[in-house]
Amino acid sequence: MVLGELVRLRALAPSDAESLWRWNNDPDVVRWMDAYYDQHLESVRKRLEAREPNSYADTLYGIEARKDGALVGLVRLRDARPESGCAELDLYIGEKDRWGHGYASDALRTMCRYGFDSMRLHKISLAVVTENHAAHHVYRKAGFVEEGRLRQSFHRDGRWYDQFTMGMLEGELR
Ligand SMILES: CC(C)(COP(=O)(O)OP(=O)(O)OC[C@H]1O[C@@H](n2cnc3c(N)ncnc32)[C@H](O)[C@@H]1OP(=O)(O)O)[C@@H](O)C(=O)NCCC(=O)NCCS
Repeated sequence: MVLGELVRLRALAPSDAESLWRWNNDPDVVRWMDAYYDQHLESVRKRLEAREPNSYADTLYGIEARKDGALVGLVRLRDARPESGCAELDLYIGEKDRWGHGYASDALRTMCRYGFDSMRLHKISLAVVTENHAAHHVYRKAGFVEEGRLRQSFHRDGRWYDQFTMGMLEGELR
């Protein structure tokens, strides 16, 4: 378990399946996220049961609000390799009514601090659709900078969108 100011990051359990399934079926939540093949709730539960425990290469945490213990989202550091000191980050707050309360910012900072201090990473990278202004703002505020633009690399509702690739080096977390 990793403690932030507003959130605590903890391993997922099969009993979290209902939340994940609900979030993945909410068009507002998945608007700027990679499309996935529809899954029945029971399949999500089985996927969580079969999931390997967290490891250096793939650390997935549920984001819990410290004030009431509610699971509000997910954050993940994946593809980490000690040889390169680099990893990729994914983040989302699935509970819409919790948007705007600082949970994403705190979970992002907490996970980056964990990556730099405990995993001894040198760099964390991510991709965000250029139109996803809230997420882009949260990443910039924490210290991520744009490093490139992936042209027309995200497709939604008949339209192509660009994505920013963003990166943060150790020492740049704000
Ligand atoms: C984007 C997301 C992660 C933000 O989570 P959150 O918990 O609401 O974020 P926070 O409360 O920590 O901060 C939100 C910030 O964005 C700002 N913001 C909100 N809407 C915005 C917009 N349309 N344009 C610019 N900034 C915006 C807020 O003012 C706030 O800024 P502040 O901290 O300087 O006051 C969340 O809405 C989400 O998960 N959305 C769906 C999935 C997603 O897009 N994930 C990211 C994929 S890369």
